[in-house]
This record gives sequence, C-alpha cells and structure tokens, in this order.
Amino acid sequence: MEKGIVIKDDWPGYSLDLFTYPEHYHDDIECVYIPHGVVMNRVERMATYIKDDFGDNNIMVLCVLKGGYKFCSDLVEFIKILGRNSDKYLETRVEFIRLKSYMNDQSTEDLHIIGSRDLSFLRGKCVLIVEAIVDTGKTMKALLKHVETYEPKMVKVAGLLVKRLPNMAEQLTDYVGFEIPNRFVVGYALDYNEYFRDLNHICVISKTGKMKYKV
Ligand code: HPA
Ligand code: MG
Repeated sequence: MEKGIVIKDDWPGYSLDLFTYPEHYHDDIECVYIPHGVVMNRVERMATYIKDDFGDNNIMVLCVLKGGYKFCSDLVEFIKILGRNSDKYLETRVEFIRLKSYMNDQSTEDLHIIGSRDLSFLRGKCVLIVEAIVDTGKTMKALLKHVETYEPKMVKVAGLLVKRLPNMAEQLTDYVGFEIPNRFVVGYALDYNEYFRDLNHICVISKTGKMKYKV
C-alpha cells in the first residue's frame, strides 16, 4: 500500500474553536492536528488493505497497549465488517501486549514488556501488530524480534502514526495511517503521562499542558 497520508512540517493544525473536545483540556492543547473523523476514515481504509493482504487467513491481532487500544478496536471493527462480506467468515482474535518506554515526552532507553501472557499461541499464525505510533522505531524493532521467536506464519505491522525521523520506522510498518513530523501528539488513546487518552482528536499538546502534567 501507499505509505500513509503525509502531514507536512508546516501543517499548523486546526484552531480549537472549530471542533468540540473535553472542556478540561482547553488550555492544554494547542491545536487539533488530525480530527477524529479523518482518523476514522483512514482507519477504515487501512482495514481494506489488511483484508486484501490477509485474504481468508484468520488474523491474530496483537494490540500494543495502552496507546493502541482505540486504533485497534476501530480497526478490528472495520476488518470484521469487510470479513462479513467475503465467502468465508474471517476470524479476528485480539491479544494484548503492554510496553512502556516513555517518560514525559522522551523515549527512554529500555523497553519493558510489562503485561502479556506467554505468546506461544502465535506459532503458525498470521499476526497483525497494531500500534498507535511508531516513533524512534526502537520499540517496534524489539517487539518484532520478540514476536518472531514464536515462529508465526506471517507478521505485519499497522501503525496509525509514523514519525518522520531518520529511522527505520517506515520499513518496519506495513500499513501506515499518517506520516507526521517529529512533534509530540496526544489523543485517540495516545497519552502524555497517562493524560489525554480520553481526547478523540489527535492534538498537539501546549506548553501549559506539558507543564501541568509533567512528572
Ligand atoms: N505521543 C504520545 N506517545 C508517544 C509519542 C507521541 O508523540 N511518541 C511515542 N509515544
Ligand atoms: Mg505513552
């Protein structure tokens, strides 16, 4: 597939007045970077690519928590709708894996897989890793290596957002929603120290917001 909708470096986002959002974040976000409706339609389009590639194979979805939960849930719904219209009913199973590598808006060196049962059920399966954001690519690279030790039949990666950085994030991600500049974004389950997950739009955090929720 194409490698995502490219959001240019000079994209200022939309003024907050143009959309609705939770009132308590009024001072904490600078702009609506990608409106929720645009995200949803893009996720639907990504589902069509995935359905085409997986064909009649059942999909073992591996959702990377916590940031991936909304993307994963919407993506799987769209895949299921497409699967209903095909000859063979497509089975989508979802498993969760929890990783943590961020403190404030900085990537920390170490990747922790903090919540997951034994992944040996991945053996021989067609696996789709679903991640909200591929940033430095370090997390995804480590996760792919880990998943491959279980010898799945095939592994693909869906990333809603991929940051434009001199990294290997692009090669790692088979399905890209949006390619974005190197800015810290929140919303649609993406957090800043656990805040903003309840914001539907993808937004850029303000200076005030960064200060307010700093740990
Ligand atoms: N926002 C939220 N979480 C993240 C980001 C980001 O831009 N990059 C990596 N984790
Ligand atoms: Mg986070």
